[in-house]
Amino acid sequence: MSQPAEIVVEQLTKAYGKFLAVDNISFAVPKGMVVGFLGPNGAGKTTTIRMLTCFMPPTSGTARVGGFDVFHDSLKVRKNLGYLPENAPLYLEMRVAEYLHFRGRLRGMDRGSIKKRIDEVTELCWLSDRKRWPISKLSKGYRQRLGIADALLHNPPVLVLDEPTVGLDPSQIRETRKLIANLAGLHTVLLSTHILSEVELVCRKVIIIGRGKILAQGSPEELKQQCAQRGSGARLVLELRGPADQIRTALAALPGIEQARIISDNAVCAVELSGKLDGAMREQIAAMVQQRGWALREMRSAGASLEEFFVQITDPGAAAAA
Ligand SMILES: Nc1ncnc2c1ncn2[C@@H]1O[C@H](COP(=O)(O)OP(=O)(O)O)[C@@H](O)[C@H]1O
Ligand SMILES: [Mg+2]
Repeated sequence: MSQPAEIVVEQLTKAYGKFLAVDNISFAVPKGMVVGFLGPNGAGKTTTIRMLTCFMPPTSGTARVGGFDVFHDSLKVRKNLGYLPENAPLYLEMRVAEYLHFRGRLRGMDRGSIKKRIDEVTELCWLSDRKRWPISKLSKGYRQRLGIADALLHNPPVLVLDEPTVGLDPSQIRETRKLIANLAGLHTVLLSTHILSEVELVCRKVIIIGRGKILAQGSPEELKQQCAQRGSGARLVLELRGPADQIRTALAALPGIEQARIISDNAVCAVELSGKLDGAMREQIAAMVQQRGWALREMRSAGASLEEFFVQITDPGAAAAA
């Protein structure tokens, strides 16, 4: 991809005393793309975002937005960037349009362009019919859209959204996702989340962060491939007729099999295997099953899941214990 990157982070670090909340991270967000910034709670997402949005200086390293340095050119960065903070504060007593007007004035926009942009962003964020509503009467989903409308008001090329779906119900989450997907192309979006399905659905690129470090980055497909190549995450499901206990024990005893798990045990027993599952192993399994006299009905691969990968790389301890 030859598109220039709109956000460039190089060796960025934030220390709180001796603790490195963000530890020497580098990544780029290509122009016009929605990129997911994924990591468990406490990973360092908000800290990174606060440096990108000029709310906090880095301890070391650099970040540029639209070519401008967040430290040396913060005014220009802010002009180029819309930011939805983690817990966007809203003035509950204000009405939607009134609030947006106030926010536009704060950003130095003139009245005429504010009025025009309020129409545009409320339309874009499905708020047109709520313009006169007091914010206190809006549901959490509508408030979040208002936060996004606010971030878009000065029409910045870059949008940074910190956990935009936290606290929303499933249908509100779907709508917010759709809204974000619609922004792709018009804006470059960095979307932070701890929810994996969110990035799989809307992001072309995912950056995974854990304990302040970048653990992996790539398209969801590339990450799934990495996961399969590690031999971890790939699964083999067997359906066979025989006593579940004995089947499980025999399969688990094969060298190279990490785990054998009974999925169902009715007339036919279904068992899921993980570990080294190459062609030789499959032949060995088939031979063993036949020798035991268990009728083999099916042997199929279950794809590597991104979820597995995410859990493994962000929490190696939990994966080992599983
Ligand atoms: N002001 C602060 N002082 C000390 N530690 C902090 C401060 N802010 C955040 N942290 C710590 O930095 C780590 C990263 O936090 P944060 O960036 O908020 O993570 P995330 O947004 O990924 O959940 C956490 O361990 C958090 O406790
Ligand atoms: Mg956070």
